[in-house]
Amino acid sequence: MVRLPEPDVARDFSRRLRRWFRQHGRDLPWRRTRDPYHVLVSELMLQQTQVSRVIDYYHRFLARFPSLTRLAESPEGHVLEAWSGLGYYARARNLHALARTVTRDGGSALPADPVALRALPGVGAYTAGAVASFAFESRAELVDTNVARVLARVFAPRLAPKRPRDLSQLWRIAEAVLPPRGSTAWTHNQALMELGALVCTARIRHCTRCPVRRLCRTRIAELASMDVTR
Ligand code: ADE
Repeated sequence: MVRLPEPDVARDFSRRLRRWFRQHGRDLPWRRTRDPYHVLVSELMLQQTQVSRVIDYYHRFLARFPSLTRLAESPEGHVLEAWSGLGYYARARNLHALARTVTRDGGSALPADPVALRALPGVGAYTAGAVASFAFESRAELVDTNVARVLARVFAPRLAPKRPRDLSQLWRIAEAVLPPRGSTAWTHNQALMELGALVCTARIRHCTRCPVRRLCRTRIAELASMDVTR
């Protein structure tokens, strides 16, 4: 079992992260909405696809299918057509199946509860957490590849995010560093994703620009091995 960050470290981490995000976070269309359907569409599109490619598709898709109900009423072929070029078409098929599942019994809205969300087609643990946090502002943790990498580097350099047992430890860390209020957790989660996308990337670590470098165990270990005291 990994040692979880102490509460004061968790608080410091989150505060630094959120302050950085308010200055450096990108203004992305899905960060301006709390509509669960819009958030879900963005999150599915963003899986395996870069932000810059998703933006156009996101707007066009929502213009064509403005609600979950309208999506459910449309033939699958039309949905695949709107997705054409984004790849990974299982995402589009699942989204369409999800819309039909939710609306089948007269419903028109996505559930707020991550457990209920996870029961829907194509919704895994990450997506359920993302919709709960980004749409409903619930205090829900979320871990995708980027977040797993950031949390491992900062708090648990020995964990390998690709190993399922280690990944579950990273979910525990994600929960442990989450601020208590849902609306603050919204910023925290967006900031964590943003740090992974812009600063602590898979290819390069831009530590000089990192707001949490002072408490990053990977960085501290590196400095110690170089015998630099700062
Ligand atoms: N990738 C997945 N979710 C994202 C988000 N909300 N903002 C930026 N990139 C993301």
